[in-house]
Amino acid sequence: MARWPVVGRERAVDVAAAQLRAGTGVALTGRPGMGKSAIAAEVAAGSSAPAVWLRPVSELQGVPLGALALLLGTGDLDPARAASGLAELVGGGLLVVDDAHDLDGQSAAVVHQLATVQRLPLLITCTDGRVPPDAVTRLWKDGTVRRYEIGPLDAGGVAAMAAAVLGGTADPALVDEVVARTLGAPLYVRELLLAARDNGAISWRDGRWRSDGRLALPAGLADVIGLRLDTLDPAARRVHDLVALVGAVSLDLVDESATAELERRGLVVVDDLERPLVRAAHPFVAEVAAGAIPVAARRSLLR
Ligand SMILES: Nc1ncnc2c1ncn2[C@@H]1O[C@H](COP(=O)(O)OP(=O)(O)OP(=O)(O)O)[C@@H](O)[C@H]1O
Ligand SMILES: [Mg+2]
Repeated sequence: MARWPVVGRERAVDVAAAQLRAGTGVALTGRPGMGKSAIAAEVAAGSSAPAVWLRPVSELQGVPLGALALLLGTGDLDPARAASGLAELVGGGLLVVDDAHDLDGQSAAVVHQLATVQRLPLLITCTDGRVPPDAVTRLWKDGTVRRYEIGPLDAGGVAAMAAAVLGGTADPALVDEVVARTLGAPLYVRELLLAARDNGAISWRDGRWRSDGRLALPAGLADVIGLRLDTLDPAARRVHDLVALVGAVSLDLVDESATAELERRGLVVVDDLERPLVRAAHPFVAEVAAGAIPVAARRSLLR
């Protein structure tokens, strides 16, 4: 798969690369779609040591050593053999674990052991709101890796990404609109711009890409967000729907444990005010959630 150029992340890439050269591993953490995997790929590509990628899948999280069995190509594995097999595979290279929160506990323990005891160079990504196995959390708690939170792109980063995606300069007003709609999450920036170009919401005029009105939500992305919302339990979904519909709600009015779950999953933000307010973490997600609520259900939510 061709990689998109990674733009606006030079500092994160440099800091992570320098950290690895200095002999300490790196964990890139942050909300979904912030570009952790993209930054990891850039760091790995620039590293003199060849990278071996381990990409665990959540479906195998309950299978002991499931992630490593796939990589090492054997089902007959115990932790000692997994450790020696992985060490041999990585050799003098770099081990990249993308989505380390999806590791099964035993594979995570093997990775932790190699990184601490054998000082295997390690670069991992981990998504906020997902619960990683203990051995992953221990990596940064015991200082085996340094943790870097990957936040949103700033307006300059969004402008650079727009230029890369669209192949031409974006008008500052368009950049502002994209920042407002996406809160600088690269996944949404790219999808929004590509959809806008395809459906004519932006056009090339006087040497710049300009907005012709409201930028529409790309359908594929809405589907992805919808699937994510479908995994919420009914209490959390109800709070999320209400927040999505009205924008912000007093914490006093909603189920607190459901709200805590939404906060943990990065779907709402609770502002620490004198009277705390719950609001949607992401305008896109709120838009999809609100659009999916049937009219009758809207009324009962607001009652
Ligand atoms: N700085 C960037 N420049 C260009 N494209 C980017 C940048 N950052 C991310 N992208 C693109 O945005 C999308 C999301 O990025 P990525 O998959 O790296 O996010 P992530 O943080 O790893 O998400 P998840 O938590 O879901 O794993 C990808 O298609 C990626 O190519
Ligand atoms: Mg990723």
